[in-house]
Amino acid sequence: MNLRIFDHEEDLNASGAGLIASLLLMKPKAVLGLATGSSPIGIYKHLIALYQKGRVCFEQASSFNLDEYVGLPVDHPESYRSRMNELLFHQIDIDLARTHVPNGNATDLAAECRAYEQSLETCGPIDLQILGIGHNGHIGFNEPGTDLSGRTHVVTLKEGTREANASFFRSLDQVPNQAITMGVGSILKSKQILLIARGEDKAKVIREAFLGPITTQCPASLLQCHPNVVVLLDRGAGRGIL
Ligand code: GLP
Repeated sequence: MNLRIFDHEEDLNASGAGLIASLLLMKPKAVLGLATGSSPIGIYKHLIALYQKGRVCFEQASSFNLDEYVGLPVDHPESYRSRMNELLFHQIDIDLARTHVPNGNATDLAAECRAYEQSLETCGPIDLQILGIGHNGHIGFNEPGTDLSGRTHVVTLKEGTREANASFFRSLDQVPNQAITMGVGSILKSKQILLIARGEDKAKVIREAFLGPITTQCPASLLQCHPNVVVLLDRGAGRGIL
């Protein structure tokens, strides 16, 4: 694992965006694994700035998002599809037809999960998977102690996760109870993983995930089994390590 702690947000963002930009330079058809949440936003902004300066191009790239809420209309501002369109896709030259986000409104969710996994198999493996981390160690929406099924599946969100995400909605009861997520197995198939965490409130879980035992009680700890993980932390999130 390659772990780096930054004093300045801009340096963290530049480091993450630099990894992605250099991948695209070497491999224009790269498959990117993308995440929502607040942690990657600064990196996306930095990537957009690089794109505007002509230093990175997404024309031939494709992407797979980790997860999506179940039952939220696709044009709802907090659906992960809307968030990705707004935060990144509409500001770069990626072909929207090659951006994949699970369909949380599919009538047959199990079939949607199988189809998503099939597309991953066909287009993948993912070259670089971006991850945030939940306070309870979830990655994507793979919650602790639940069925950490290897493949894309439907999950019931823990109350703590719904509460953490409630700030994006008008009230807690508007936060969906379920989501589709890539499984830990799907995530671990990525060639490289880039996990980002910011803020002191993530210090404890970062310590557990990377210095603690490998356990399904902390899904992110399973990343210790992956040979190519880069972890970018701000000083707050790195506090439990240094
Ligand atoms: C949500 C997302 C995760 C994300 C996590 C952490 O639950 N489904 O993919 O990693 O939140 O979010 P943040 O980066 O805002 O702390």
